Amino acid sequence: MRHFLSLLDLHCDEVDALFALATTLKRDHYAGRPHRFLEGKTMAMIFDKASTRTRVSFEAGIFQLGGHALFLHADNTQLGRGEPLADSAKVLSRMVDLIMIRTFEHDSIIEFAKHSHVPVINALTDLLHPCQVLTDIFTYQEHRGSIKGKTVTWIGDGNNMLHSWINGAALFGYHLQVASPIGYQADEMLMRDAIGQGAKITFMADPLDAALGADLITTDVWASMGQEQEQEIREKAFVDYQVTAEVMARGNDDALFMHCLPAHRGEEVAAEVIDGSQSVVWDEAENRLHVQKALMVFLMQHAKD
Ligand code: CP
Ligand code: NVA
Repeated sequence: MRHFLSLLDLHCDEVDALFALATTLKRDHYAGRPHRFLEGKTMAMIFDKASTRTRVSFEAGIFQLGGHALFLHADNTQLGRGEPLADSAKVLSRMVDLIMIRTFEHDSIIEFAKHSHVPVINALTDLLHPCQVLTDIFTYQEHRGSIKGKTVTWIGDGNNMLHSWINGAALFGYHLQVASPIGYQADEMLMRDAIGQGAKITFMADPLDAALGADLITTDVWASMGQEQEQEIREKAFVDYQVTAEVMARGNDDALFMHCLPAHRGEEVAAEVIDGSQSVVWDEAENRLHVQKALMVFLMQHAKD
């Protein structure tokens, strides 16, 4: 069974095909041309955390493809009352054609996928956010062409977004320059695995150094979902890790700024950057729709590979 739990579940040539399909689907959507590749298909969407973009892009996306989505929140399913993941996976995958999960522990989605007879999509775990970074790379390439050999700078937390950018460095061949505060760095094992698979990553203490020569500068919130109680302590630790105009000026003249959103202006990013001319955050958000539509079609086509 073919799942999408990490960017590393895809091969480079598959990504090219997937991005080509996303471009076609985007054009079809703009032109109002029907593209009902998933007619009669149903997707269960399991959410243990909040969401705006992910829920709407998947739900609108499968509808536009001729299918249907079921929104299942932990608060009103038996999963939320302790039904084992394996049992839930076996039951749901007898009823639907695709399953999308946003949850806390990455091991939960691995366990779920192990028992699912249909493709499972990772819509964010504490460890990874592959749908977002796949979309970000598509968005970069839409604006600037191939990301291979380019320099991507990450300023901030060693979180799910950074981890997927690290995986992406192995798959897409960009050079990643990272500045995170001490104590908030990326997961070491994940990093070593990615480096073992060819990822080129440089870690720097100073965001101004990390931004030097960047083609893309990106960041994320200081406290992710599930870390709300750490907000205050993180505000102190991250105070020097804001993407400011000064940081952007260290990048190349045509460098882009991205943020997965939701953003906190005045924390991880200055308002003048996210609302400025180098920012492509709205394209990035919109492209979740087109890229995930392509991903759903791809997974349904390759379900049994
Ligand atoms: N970027 C992202 O995944 O947004 P949501 O939390 O709104 O889904
Ligand atoms: N790192 C953030 C991403 C939100 C889309 C979080 O996990 O809350």
